[in-house]
Amino acid sequence: MHVINLIQKALNQRAFLTEDQKTNSFRLFDGEGDGISDIYIDQLGDNWLLSTTEGIIPEELKEAVGSFGKTVYWKKLDQYEKESPTLLCGAPVHEPFIGLENGLEYELSFSSGYSQGLFLDQRENRARIQELVQPEQRILNTFAYTGAFSVVAASAGGITTTLDLSQPYLDWTKRNMSLNAIDENTQFFCKGDTFHWLARFAKSGKKFHGIILDPPTFSRDTKGKVFRVEKDYHRLIKLASSVLEDEGWILACSNCRKMPHWQFEEQIQKGMDATFISYDMPAEYTGEKYLKIYFIRPNKNKG
Ligand SMILES: C[S@@+](CC[C@H](N)C(=O)[O-])C[C@H]1O[C@@H](n2cnc3c(N)ncnc32)[C@H](O)[C@@H]1O
Repeated sequence: MHVINLIQKALNQRAFLTEDQKTNSFRLFDGEGDGISDIYIDQLGDNWLLSTTEGIIPEELKEAVGSFGKTVYWKKLDQYEKESPTLLCGAPVHEPFIGLENGLEYELSFSSGYSQGLFLDQRENRARIQELVQPEQRILNTFAYTGAFSVVAASAGGITTTLDLSQPYLDWTKRNMSLNAIDENTQFFCKGDTFHWLARFAKSGKKFHGIILDPPTFSRDTKGKVFRVEKDYHRLIKLASSVLEDEGWILACSNCRKMPHWQFEEQIQKGMDATFISYDMPAEYTGEKYLKIYFIRPNKNKG
């Protein structure tokens, strides 16, 4: 089948998203799952982002994505040289621009780096958290990036603490809150290392009703200590469990492709005495199911 037909087919299969007035940002074409390996298209607001592992875009692909009348940016997927997308066709976007998901707005950007401001594969988890959070509950969003999880939790009435190493991302979180009429002064922000802050919260007896853990596969704290999800996730779970209310929950995720679900479950069990349920990725992710998604609740004290 021609590339253009494969893209049209993928679009047709995503009618549940393209016709959803409350969402305009989602994975539109998912590589092998939609018929072409290593080619991904995300709709971000009114624009498309084409991501490829190859540095040269075949002419047929370029023509195909250009024929839908959208502004299309292109990004080369490269875990070492992480560059901002560049314009492939259509008019340049006015930066930053707004994406909509389940009725909430998020600031997006093609020019501010390798990631565009919203991890689309977490859409259903954000919806789950919006459902789960009750007014006044304390929710801790670690490794928060642009704070999308904080936005949904705060919009449900939660009192969020957003934690990230990067001040620019905390500022981005505040702008995302303001876009959704959430007063940033009613929410909390911590700049720094997640492990450091979790230990600090534990020492001071602070507890949360919900904790979101979605770390990068590899990270180094300010003292240079390395964290690798395959080996160290249990440490994160253990620390998080020490600041969790008895009736609370943890959302633990990892996008580490080389770690299978069973290994992730081992890490959870090593970290805490808990019951968990796992979820599949959103339906439009038809390719590799790389994202591990676990909602974890502590087992009741057996004593
Ligand atoms: C994969 S993104 C997280 C995505 C986010 N959970 C979401 O769904 O939008 C990783 C984030 O973790 C932050 N980060 C990396 N190492 C960290 C650490 N040790 N402590 C706190 N934040 C960290 C980075 O600055 C980045 O914003």
